[in-house]
Amino acid sequence: MLASGILGSTASLLKRVEEAGAGAVTTKTILPRPTKGFSNPVVVDLPFGMINAMGLPNPGIDEFERELREARSEINIPIIGSAGGSTPEEVAHVAGRLQDAGADAVEVNASCPHVRGHGVELGSTPEMMRELVREVRRSLRVPLIVKLSPMVPDIRSLGRIAVESGANALNAVNTMRAMYIDVEAMRPVLSNRFGGLSGPAIRPVAVRCVYELADLCDVIGTGGVESWRDAAEMLLAGAKAVGIGTAIRRKGLSVFSEIKVGLESYLLRKGLSLRELIGRARI
Ligand SMILES: Cc1cc2nc3c(=O)[nH]c(=O)nc-3n(C[C@H](O)[C@H](O)[C@H](O)COP(=O)(O)O)c2cc1C
Repeated sequence: MLASGILGSTASLLKRVEEAGAGAVTTKTILPRPTKGFSNPVVVDLPFGMINAMGLPNPGIDEFERELREARSEINIPIIGSAGGSTPEEVAHVAGRLQDAGADAVEVNASCPHVRGHGVELGSTPEMMRELVREVRRSLRVPLIVKLSPMVPDIRSLGRIAVESGANALNAVNTMRAMYIDVEAMRPVLSNRFGGLSGPAIRPVAVRCVYELADLCDVIGTGGVESWRDAAEMLLAGAKAVGIGTAIRRKGLSVFSEIKVGLESYLLRKGLSLRELIGRARI
């Protein structure tokens, strides 16, 4: 699956991802209103991944609704609409409109900044997670996926609360807060100073999170997957689907077909079906 935030902002980009072989696509996290995002530089490329501080640049739901309707008429694979906002009510509003514009499922980005909580994230405590998921679930008919941050002391108990509050699936994980300093300029490189680390650097953390969550409900394993081996690792940990983001920047859109072909020959070599592979490393 295409992970949220990478090539997910227009119908034509989503269509290109479908043509590249993705099994499903996730839109960029959509906010209630248009926002500019942070000023440059917003990305640092590293040998082991990248740090981004885009600041959720956003068309807003009014504008994106049109884009999603167009995507829906052109794309044959499932489209997951990612909803964000700074209160549970805002996220629920965006989620409902994504559903009405044709999203097959809604993913809630529980890592959006929370205005009432002064900079904490919407799903960062058990109480906030419960309130967020219940509010979004109330008005939704399509399946609800909750995307979790890896930067919580106990992801399993937060995941359990999300499921008990109405989530149908979990996506592990979002990026990890990180920083990069230019030693010659003696300054942080990102205009926002901090950003989200993604790519191979976070894969072992993502695999651990998937392993901790996979017996609670269906889990999408996201974080640093860029080869069939990485995808196989996620599936062995118990993921029912695999999300791919940063690898597209590092390797191009061919990463989807490369992973599919590699996984197929791995399964053949092991004499297993995909179903038999899922969760096989769980002990
Ligand atoms: C440039 C960039 C933008 C992102 N934007 C979003 C976003 O809008 N919503 C979201 O839930 N996750 C967003 N993410 C997180 C990714 O969806 C994914 O969870 C994370 O990057 C780990 O997967 P990866 O290593 O395959 O990229 C973004 C990641 C990157 C690199």
